[in-house]
Amino acid sequence: MADTNAKLTVNGEEYELPIIKGTLGRPVIDIAALQESGFWSYDPGFKVTAPVESKITYIDGGKGELLHRGYPIDELANNAEYLEVAYALLHGDLPTAEQKEEFFEKIREHTPVHDQLRKFFEGFRRDAHPMAIMVGVVGALSAFYHEDLDVSNEEHREITAIRLIAKMPTLAAMSYKYSQGEPFMYPRNDFNYAENFLYMMFATPADVDYEKNDVITRAMDKIFTLHADHEQNASTSTVRLAGSTGANPYACIAAGIAALWGPSHGGANEAVLEMLDEIGTVENVPEFMEKVKSREVKLMGFGHRVYKNFDPRAQVMKETCDEVLEALGINDPKLELAMALEKIALEDPFFIERNLYPNVDFYSGIILKAIGIPTSMFTVIFALARTSGWISHWLEMHSAPFKIGRPRQLYTGETRRDFVKVEDRK
Ligand code: SDX
Repeated sequence: MADTNAKLTVNGEEYELPIIKGTLGRPVIDIAALQESGFWSYDPGFKVTAPVESKITYIDGGKGELLHRGYPIDELANNAEYLEVAYALLHGDLPTAEQKEEFFEKIREHTPVHDQLRKFFEGFRRDAHPMAIMVGVVGALSAFYHEDLDVSNEEHREITAIRLIAKMPTLAAMSYKYSQGEPFMYPRNDFNYAENFLYMMFATPADVDYEKNDVITRAMDKIFTLHADHEQNASTSTVRLAGSTGANPYACIAAGIAALWGPSHGGANEAVLEMLDEIGTVENVPEFMEKVKSREVKLMGFGHRVYKNFDPRAQVMKETCDEVLEALGINDPKLELAMALEKIALEDPFFIERNLYPNVDFYSGIILKAIGIPTSMFTVIFALARTSGWISHWLEMHSAPFKIGRPRQLYTGETRRDFVKVEDRK
């Protein structure tokens, strides 16, 4: 409901544009009346555009605040399991003990994948990037569930959300095992979500006495929570736009995985490790920073479209990083290098003037490396975790009437020209 109006005067016409307030954050100006004005709005990169209303996640970039269904991210990461957070994203609040047990059981039930899916992996070269495999295999999942693909059916939507959240760790671990030339490991229902993922990643059929590591498990679960959702980021917006066409949810999530892969988005954690490898030692930092300032390279893991303060996830990630390295007795020179980079960046006017702070990707790669996860799997883990966010936004979109997303453009191409036959073109 509009609270008041903004006024727009253009070409001698005045338009009343309703201002709508949310429960938190900036109000919006409903610009639908532009339809009559003969103008489009223009906002490359959607820096000041809110295409949707949502109740799932709230970010205050100035304060460095991130809430999922109203709960601060550090509270969730430090006190809840990832699947409890996934439940909250899907259903609006954290589960009761009974709801938790029922949801966890449903997820356990759906962790295996159809055995035919193995054949999809065999079509890839062993050195295929696991994100290439995930885009393909997740999209292909729709071919195994024809009977539950009616997006207008609430039960179909619900079971698909369960299947996707349950199967992502299995498919992610399979994409890793395939690259290692090792046999796929079946999920174990006596393990929790993070334990199961680590088991399917690192155990082999010969490991009759496979040992769980509670510190690593807890760190993995926290990393899943820290990546679960983040409002209308590029990949979530991709999932919503694909969903607005009525596309099946597996195809929409595959589209989200593809969008996440980019180094400006979810591919940044992999790019951070590559950057640290390129810098090599703390002595090389000043020279590297000069390259950043001359815009030859970006400082990967720094900066954010929304956070113009610390990314609250980066702070939790840093604490987890310290815990994991200490518990594993690892003295990783990359952490020392990352801390040197962070210290210099936080004191340098180039970064201060541009509000460039560490984001969620800056420390995640160091923890994942300490856990033994190869760099190429970093974004796969991001996609695994973000699936609960993506599918929650897809469900939210389907919970009310929606229109197909169809932006317009500012056309600056050729004006109308007469056609010339190829033999007459000079
Ligand atoms: C994620 O949207 C989300 O919520 C994403 C995410 C999620 O959970 O879904 O949070 C996950 O994607 C985190 C971001 C991971 N990406 C990186 O770490 C890659 C490095 N960061 C940059 O590419 C950049 O900061 C972005 C893409 C994240 C944000 O870009 P913006 O908002 O478009 O910023 P901008 O390009 O307008 O930058 C403003 C200025 C520019 O300098 P000037 O031209 O004004 O002089 O800051 C500079 C930029 O060149 N700048 C950087 C920089 N990021 C921005 N300079 C050096 N290093 C950087 N990392």
